[in-house]
Amino acid sequence: MKTLVLVFHPDMAKSRANAALMAAARPLSEDDGVTVRDEYALYPDGKIDVKAEQRLIETHDRIVFQFPMYWYSAPALLKEWEDKVLEFGWAYGPGGEALKGKSIMVATTAGGPRTEYRDEDNGATMDEVLSPYRMMVRYTHAVWLKPFVVFESMELSDESLAEAARDYRQALLR
Ligand SMILES: Cc1cc2nc3c(=O)[nH]c(=O)nc-3n(C[C@H](O)[C@H](O)[C@H](O)COP(=O)(O)O)c2cc1C
Repeated sequence: MKTLVLVFHPDMAKSRANAALMAAARPLSEDDGVTVRDEYALYPDGKIDVKAEQRLIETHDRIVFQFPMYWYSAPALLKEWEDKVLEFGWAYGPGGEALKGKSIMVATTAGGPRTEYRDEDNGATMDEVLSPYRMMVRYTHAVWLKPFVVFESMELSDESLAEAARDYRQALLR
């Protein structure tokens, strides 16, 4: 099983939660079958190398999109990545089966508590918030994995964050 972790954080130098998750994933090497990429660092001008990203997808079985939740969605580069990389004739349409059968997992950190994403009085569950990704996975005939979600990402104690990072590492090795 080869896993590709695509991390989308616009200011990794100021990140605590995603930096901790990425640091847990990074030591996992090609021997473990895990490749980690800091997409904002790779594309500071926002110009994505579409062919390079497509080749990486093609050579991995599981894709993880890791990002901090921003306005019930992801930082803008992930949307740009979807719009550019998931091309007609590659990801969908005639001959477009590149994602077919691949497993896709969202790993996100949310500032809000778990209850904010559970209680219908508050608007939407986390599953509902993540539905654009689930729909993308469905449309491209990939397989939707249970999302890895860290709640209260700004208030977590060092200990709880370390535990989340350990859980993330385990999820990536599974
Ligand atoms: C522009 C912006 C929008 C945000 N929107 C949300 C949101 O919709 N829901 C939420 O739970 N947290 C939201 N947050 C909090 C972030 O999810 C939180 O800062 C992030 O998970 C912390 O991760 P980091 O330490 O890697 O930066 C937002 C933060 C920013 C800066």
